[in-house]
Amino acid sequence: MLIEQNISLLPFNTFHINASANLFANINSMEDAREIVKQKLPEKHATLLLGGGSNVLFTKNFNGLVLKNNLLGKEIVKETDEHVFVKAQSGEVWHEFVLYCIAKNYGGLENLSLIPGSVGASPIQNIGAYGAEIKDTFYELEALHLNEGYTKTFSLSECNFGYRESVFKHDLKGQYFITSVTFKLSKKPKFRTDYGQIQTELEKMKVTELSVKAISDAVCSIRRSKLPDPAQIGNAGSFFKNPVISNEQYSELKGLFPDISAYPAEKNTKIAAGWLIEKAGWKGKTFGEYGVHKNQALVLVNYGGATGDQIYNLSSEIIASIEKMFGITLEREVNMI
Ligand code: FAD
Ligand code: EPU
Repeated sequence: MLIEQNISLLPFNTFHINASANLFANINSMEDAREIVKQKLPEKHATLLLGGGSNVLFTKNFNGLVLKNNLLGKEIVKETDEHVFVKAQSGEVWHEFVLYCIAKNYGGLENLSLIPGSVGASPIQNIGAYGAEIKDTFYELEALHLNEGYTKTFSLSECNFGYRESVFKHDLKGQYFITSVTFKLSKKPKFRTDYGQIQTELEKMKVTELSVKAISDAVCSIRRSKLPDPAQIGNAGSFFKNPVISNEQYSELKGLFPDISAYPAEKNTKIAAGWLIEKAGWKGKTFGEYGVHKNQALVLVNYGGATGDQIYNLSSEIIASIEKMFGITLEREVNMI
């Protein structure tokens, strides 16, 4: 396995930031991964796992070892009358894996269509969209401890999933290389069409009979109309999480801003951060080569040669302005490197 030096990360992050890594290795097999551990490289160097690079912002050059995950393969590991357990290697492209499940008519991942990135990163922030999160269909994952070299299977409860959260962003941050994820999918899918515009989109598409394919098509169509394509404009999706506030704070804000966009979130209220950022006047603002997207204020964009630092500083200005105007502190969703 080749360990390269001083590699540009430009092709490896959807924000199109031209940072470099002083060490870089492609992980094409479990043997490659074990070799890295055997050579004790993660003990000697700061180590970053990279899938599709669609949820990272490189704020500076990475002084350490980047491991680009290319582990491929998927298999059905168990079947019952109701369910099928599909295991995917972590370097599989998420959307291609979703399409594979849809082609077999396995239900559960269709609302998560077209999310960029790899299968292996999906548990890191418990990816979610259009009323679904991977925790709804997650069965287990396998991970390799980068320093100690053992593999561990994590069950659903051990992952501690929450809204854009898991144990891998907190207590176990940076410790494990997730090598495969197994999903428990349904042979008799229950369709989730209640979220947002799915129903309207299905009507527009003149769908008369619901199917996992129809829902996936509807979700893809909505996403294409809203979110910038990273192949065209550098971005990492929502830059911030939607903040969850108390119902009391929400009532006060609703008094001041009657058109505020919000949703119930268990015993609290989730506020649409895109609404806050738009209301504060940031939507569509451009600063040279970067800015806030014109159609979705929650997405920060790199139009060309912006640095990660510039985008990070813009995000800090947005946080300060939202704090001042609404008394809410936005939290970044994208991983700052
Ligand atoms: P990377 O960016 O490569 O890595 C993200 C983090 O996970 C890093 O900390 C990395 O070290 C770690 N990591 C990656 N792979 C592994 C591994 N195998 N083992 C251990 N750690 C690992 N997210 C949503 O939840 N919902 C959305 O609707 C959504 N829409 C998006 C739309 C666009 C246009 C874009 C650009 C992004 C969007 N995202 C969304 C964010 C992103 O797609 C997800 O977070 C995705 O899971 C990132 O996958 P990745 O392989 O690119 O991860
Ligand atoms: N809104 C505005 N102005 C904007 C953008 C949004 O007012 O510029 C308000 C509107 O009221 C809109 C509401 O915000 O109805 C919600 O907007 P949208 O449906 O676009 O969803 P979001 O809350 O901005 C979240 C996720 C997305 C996910 C979509 C669909 C987070 C942080 N983001 O976005 O995930 O795809 O819902 O489920 O939860 C990601 O995590 O990267 C991501 C793209």
